[in-house]
Amino acid sequence: MVGFSIEAVRGQFPALSLTDKGRRRIYLDNPAGTQVPQAVADAVSRCLLTTNANLGGFFETTIAAQSVVDEAHHAMADFLGAASPEEIIIGANMTTLTYHMSRTLGRTLKPGDELILTRMDHEGNVSPWLQLAEDLGLVVRWLPFDEMSWQVEEAALSGLLSDKTRLVALNYASNLTGSINRVKALTAIAKQAGALVYVDAVQFAPHGLIDVQVLGCDFLICSAYKFFGPHMGILWGRREIIDGLKPYKCRCSSDGLPERFELGTPQIELMAGLTAAVDYFAQLGAAGGESGSRRQKIAKAFETCIAYENPLAQRLIDGLSDISGLTIHGITDPKRLGDRVPTVSFTVDGIVPETIVRQMNAENIFLWSGHNYAWEIVHQLGIPAEQGVVRIGIAHYNTAAEIDETLESVHRIIAMLRQQRS
Ligand SMILES: Cc1ncc(COP(=O)(O)O)c(C=O)c1O
Repeated sequence: MVGFSIEAVRGQFPALSLTDKGRRRIYLDNPAGTQVPQAVADAVSRCLLTTNANLGGFFETTIAAQSVVDEAHHAMADFLGAASPEEIIIGANMTTLTYHMSRTLGRTLKPGDELILTRMDHEGNVSPWLQLAEDLGLVVRWLPFDEMSWQVEEAALSGLLSDKTRLVALNYASNLTGSINRVKALTAIAKQAGALVYVDAVQFAPHGLIDVQVLGCDFLICSAYKFFGPHMGILWGRREIIDGLKPYKCRCSSDGLPERFELGTPQIELMAGLTAAVDYFAQLGAAGGESGSRRQKIAKAFETCIAYENPLAQRLIDGLSDISGLTIHGITDPKRLGDRVPTVSFTVDGIVPETIVRQMNAENIFLWSGHNYAWEIVHQLGIPAEQGVVRIGIAHYNTAAEIDETLESVHRIIAMLRQQRS
């Protein structure tokens, strides 16, 4: 493929060539967290070693630290297509930021106001709103996903909206089924009813270009450690909305944007790594032939990554589909590959997912079992929550050979477990 060299990509991630007692590693735990390029680790280290200071002073290191913070906000504005870096709020992780914003929005809500939550979301975009509803006497309306399309349908959302709906919390892509919602269309419907729209893009961000202005939502959140950066979360908030909000904060801290929402001393060194992660995408785009702005390079990077990842996802789906008694919980139709990220979850009749995963982990194939906090999804699908699924999550640094080896392992382990039972 033009502009995408898997060798060049893998060469940037030192973790990919590590071995344990001589055994190679296959990282398919990517939906839970990705590996980082050398440049990200270097940026974190450089910041700690050369510009380590708190913010707001007049000496060399505090001035340099402020630049690190400013650059991270600029980088994320480019990454998300935000109108301004002032709309970028950086914090500990998606869950912490969402609890923070839910409490902030709670100050504008009253008993009887309605929230719409989906059965497709990760708990990080469910629990904060549920607990807010409990505290304030809000009404929660549940939006299921369609078990044929694996997406939240516009008609189902329309049926739940009312003149009391204040907020719709949606996910962009599921961390269990991998399916991508039509966020732009769903947002338009919710906005027409006067609701705010809060989008969880944690699982979409590593796999596709986000444009908050095109989506039209009010908030969008992601986590850098899912897109090859450090452990931190980033919340974009539409300026017209966040300008009028009063977060819980120290009285003497800044009222400016985004500082009003960023509590305490920021994770400055991780912000250095965040900028490096965004620049990693830009560099991928440049290698793909794009010479325009950082945003244009990021767009190109996703174009090349998607073209590389989708055939890998199909290879995985096809290989799993050969196994009798195995059910993939998500889109399998090759024509609908564009409606999913390359995260594939499955269950096997009569076998506990953890049993398969433990065996595969023992072969140094890294992947997860369980509900993975997609608590609502497993309940809607009738999957026992204490068991969940086996989840295989591909990133753009995985190879076809790794997928083949993984498939061979899944086939062999399932056959062995069945034989042990019989
Ligand atoms: C879809 C989705 N939303 C939210 C989260 C929570 O993110 P964080 O760990 O940054 O709080 C995750 C984590 O796996 C996720 O997959």
